Amino acid sequence: MKGEGSRTRLIGRERGYHGVNFGGISVGGIVTNRKMFGTLLTGVDHLPHTHLPGKNAFTKGEPEHGADLADELERIVTLHDASTIAAVIVEPVAGSTGVLIPPKGYLQRLRDICTKHGILLIFDEVITGFGRLGTPFAADYFGVIPDIITTAKGVSNGVIPMGAVFVKKEIHDAFMNGPEHLIEFFHGYTYSGNPIASAAAIATLDTYKEEGLLTRGAELAPYWEEALHSLKDAPHVIDIRNIGLVGAIELQPIAGQPTKRAFQAFVKAFERGALIRTTGDIIALSPPLIITKGQIDELIDHVREVLTMVD
Ligand SMILES: Cc1ncc(COP(=O)(O)O)c(C=O)c1O
Repeated sequence: MKGEGSRTRLIGRERGYHGVNFGGISVGGIVTNRKMFGTLLTGVDHLPHTHLPGKNAFTKGEPEHGADLADELERIVTLHDASTIAAVIVEPVAGSTGVLIPPKGYLQRLRDICTKHGILLIFDEVITGFGRLGTPFAADYFGVIPDIITTAKGVSNGVIPMGAVFVKKEIHDAFMNGPEHLIEFFHGYTYSGNPIASAAAIATLDTYKEEGLLTRGAELAPYWEEALHSLKDAPHVIDIRNIGLVGAIELQPIAGQPTKRAFQAFVKAFERGALIRTTGDIIALSPPLIITKGQIDELIDHVREVLTMVD
């Protein structure tokens, strides 16, 4: 719409997750997904991931080391030329790969480099959106404003399918420039504006407001952090990280059998009545925004116990 049609490349990040649609797999960095689907979208490049356990293990909140990894974007721009790059997409906190928290200053650097080169910055806030970090969005938490935010899950409490995209005014206005009687987005989806999903989203937003849930994570975050890090001396634990109301416990993999130990923890926890989520050898915890301190204790006790039970 702006006449910059040569900008066709997308830049994602190693270990990123943006769903198992073709575009999402292409910009994503989850190897087991990528290797199944051939060459995917062309013209995509990837930033390095930001997981530096050698330097940042057991950090509470944002890690000290790694902001310079954002400078890799300059290298990618030098390789392809800015005039060919449309957008950079990252999860502000990478979720599905095992909760990778951005190093201090990292997102701001990405923002600055994108602005410098006229590249759009997209935050995939499907996990971080709607209160996960104790602020309405991760953009609020980090004070870094992207050009586009993708959301889902929290918008309807994750129980009715719905996704939504927010764009800054300039992007909106670039599209909304036709004659009144023409529809700007020529295509719709069958399920766009679905009435049940819309009703669920409106009800969810009302509940967030009434119960203060978009910021409740901030009140619980210190308690959550202490509880999580109390597992530091539990068996097999090689890293613990947290931010807002999300966190991860990384386990030493069993030699030659990656993921087995965490899977055992998942099964043992399930048998005890606690549903935890594992990804690789990482236990990723993202409890409901209504969790109580007592329930946090209960959850952490379960995890401590199961870690003594696994091989
Ligand atoms: C960051 C992120 N983006 C997108 C998605 C949604 O992908 P899909 O619609 O394919 O389930 C997820 C789901 O877990 C996610 O964590």
